[in-house]
Amino acid sequence: MTTSAQTTAQTTAQTTAQTAAQTAAQTAATRSGTEKPALSTHGLNKSFGSLVVARDISIALPQGARYALIGPNGAGKTTLINLITGMLRPDSGRIRLGPHDITSLKPHQRVRRGLVRTFQINTLFPQLTALEAVVLAVSERRGLARNFWRGLTAFPDAAEEAYAILKSLSLGADCTRLTRELAYGQQRLLEIALALATKPKVLLLDEPAAGVPRDESADLFAAIAALPPDITVLFIEHDMNLVFRFATRIIVLVQGAILLEGTPQVISADPRVREVYLGGVHYG
Ligand SMILES: Nc1ncnc2c1ncn2[C@@H]1O[C@H](COP(=O)(O)OP(=O)(O)O)[C@@H](O)[C@H]1O
Ligand SMILES: [Mg+2]
Repeated sequence: MTTSAQTTAQTTAQTTAQTAAQTAAQTAATRSGTEKPALSTHGLNKSFGSLVVARDISIALPQGARYALIGPNGAGKTTLINLITGMLRPDSGRIRLGPHDITSLKPHQRVRRGLVRTFQINTLFPQLTALEAVVLAVSERRGLARNFWRGLTAFPDAAEEAYAILKSLSLGADCTRLTRELAYGQQRLLEIALALATKPKVLLLDEPAAGVPRDESADLFAAIAALPPDITVLFIEHDMNLVFRFATRIIVLVQGAILLEGTPQVISADPRVREVYLGGVHYG
């Protein structure tokens, strides 16, 4: 039987929960709206000879964003990631990580500051288990990698951290398998695990689901969307279903320039995007 005291208590609890949820949502909105961006570019330009691949690219990614970078094949998406990571030098323009100008830093210096991209692991660590590979990455960050020959048991803290990362990406059960024996989707997850071992602030993913069977790619993106909320993510993906499902915001790049930037709702409703996407061009 429900007494009026119980009803009052339930109503109060519900109101309190609703207020807490609203406050959390407002805090998140304020954070994404007013906080300084985790990563920004300012008027980036890049040409290869007469081919302009980046035209006055200015973007600002708020902390915790899940940003998708989309556009036709050859639009300059990978080039933009290469400019951000320092693999390529811009002809002009600046790049900032938080408030710091990193334009003149080398790629490894940017990684050390928390700007990280994934690399294909199947070529890097075929003879290691998933756990060994991540322990190596954690040890590298902690400055222990030179003693790696001593084996996993010499570094219980690093092994514990590595296992926690693998577990958070649903790779705990398979962590003792060789990296090359993992399913494609798991290999891509392991690449993300290796990136997480460097404690990134901003994570750049160039087609993270490339080569992954369709039925595994949604799980992969669910894992990306569920990464810790303080990590800012920019990913390139050509499957629009995945983009609209998992991106909080989208940048559309066409011929090296930003055509449009906005929420999935804004992007899907924009006639210019429809024209680009229905115009018979190929996307990647
Ligand atoms: N190192 C390079 N030298 C010359 N042209 C390049 C180089 N890298 C990329 N390109 C060209 O720049 C354009 C953009 O390439 P890319 O950034 O890879 O496009 P996307 O990733 O959007 O498909 C393409 O026309 C490509 O052929
Ligand atoms: Mg590309």
